[in-house]
Amino acid sequence: MNFNITTQQWIVSDTPPDWQRSAEFAKAVQLLRDGELVAIPTETVYGLAADATNGEACAKIYEAKGRPEFNPLISHLPDYETTRQHGLFNDDAHKLAQSFWPGPLTLVLPRKAGSPISELVSAGLNTVALRVPASPLMQALSNAVGHPLAAPSANLSGQISPTTGQDVVQDMAGRVAMVIDTGPTTIGLESTIVACIGENPILLRPGGIPEEDLVQVLGRAIARAESNDDAPEAPGMLSSHYAPHARIRLNVSNVGSHEGLLAFGPSLPANAGNCRKVFNLSEKSDLREAASRLFAGLRSLDASGVEQIAVMPIPNAGLGDAINDRLKRASAPRK
Ligand code: TXA
Ligand code: MG
Repeated sequence: MNFNITTQQWIVSDTPPDWQRSAEFAKAVQLLRDGELVAIPTETVYGLAADATNGEACAKIYEAKGRPEFNPLISHLPDYETTRQHGLFNDDAHKLAQSFWPGPLTLVLPRKAGSPISELVSAGLNTVALRVPASPLMQALSNAVGHPLAAPSANLSGQISPTTGQDVVQDMAGRVAMVIDTGPTTIGLESTIVACIGENPILLRPGGIPEEDLVQVLGRAIARAESNDDAPEAPGMLSSHYAPHARIRLNVSNVGSHEGLLAFGPSLPANAGNCRKVFNLSEKSDLREAASRLFAGLRSLDASGVEQIAVMPIPNAGLGDAINDRLKRASAPRK
């Protein structure tokens, strides 16, 4: 990635109408529509946003953060109404959304069929993480872009979450097109994440909404999962983690007639024509394009019913690290 992007810092108050008809607002909307990264304020911490329906734009988020692996990202939306196009709300999710949105709550829900959120944003899970932040500027941005905005905290991987525009500039200058700086965030710690995908809600990450408030609204206790950046979900507690049914064979230079081929680059193994199905992550060897197509590729080969997926070598540079990390985990022996 080019880390010498000119970063425009736009200092503005989060209260309308200061920004509503400003040239900077229009520019931020245009940048997001064009697949660029914009750092945005929320009430919790600053986020590093891209159009959540644009896989290649979202791949840039991982590059800019220097994340060695694909963690799933939260999609930010302007209101409860629009979130319903992307997730399936059960009674608990409905109650929580009604009580705490807009606000520092993220709901992890089963993905609704037809949602255009990129599979890279879900990192191959069958769920989506949705949030309606309280920032009026953020709501207006998502509305004007017309798509959800995928945004992790706007810090480099391993650094602490940014709560001022200056924190963001420190980590992200040269890596993002614009930083929207509305001053210190009001909450200063990340959103509370609750998964509502089974019979009982699960607290995945404590945050801006205290557990007692959740319990009061739900009318019952809430189970806790240990969650951190390395383990976004507690094994066994969320059953939706996607792993291909087919076995995975890595770094292949040939492919069998019973296999599917996950290809990379313009030249395929000589016997590729005899295999069951080919999915090329990027014919032009572009790692960003490959990242954006990885989960769709695994799914599509798996759905074709092959027993084994042969994967061509993928260079370990840039996003290749995260792609290879994910493939290595998918190829590990099953329990
Ligand atoms: O307050 C916040 O939540 C901030 C602002 C910018 O919205 N965002 C934030 O994002 O903290 P991030 O990427 O730093 O943390 C998101 C957490 C990660 O631990 C991720 O694994 C989890 O949410 N997550 C996202 N989607 C998930 C999913 N489908 N299932 C389980 N966990 C998920
Ligand atoms: Mg973070």
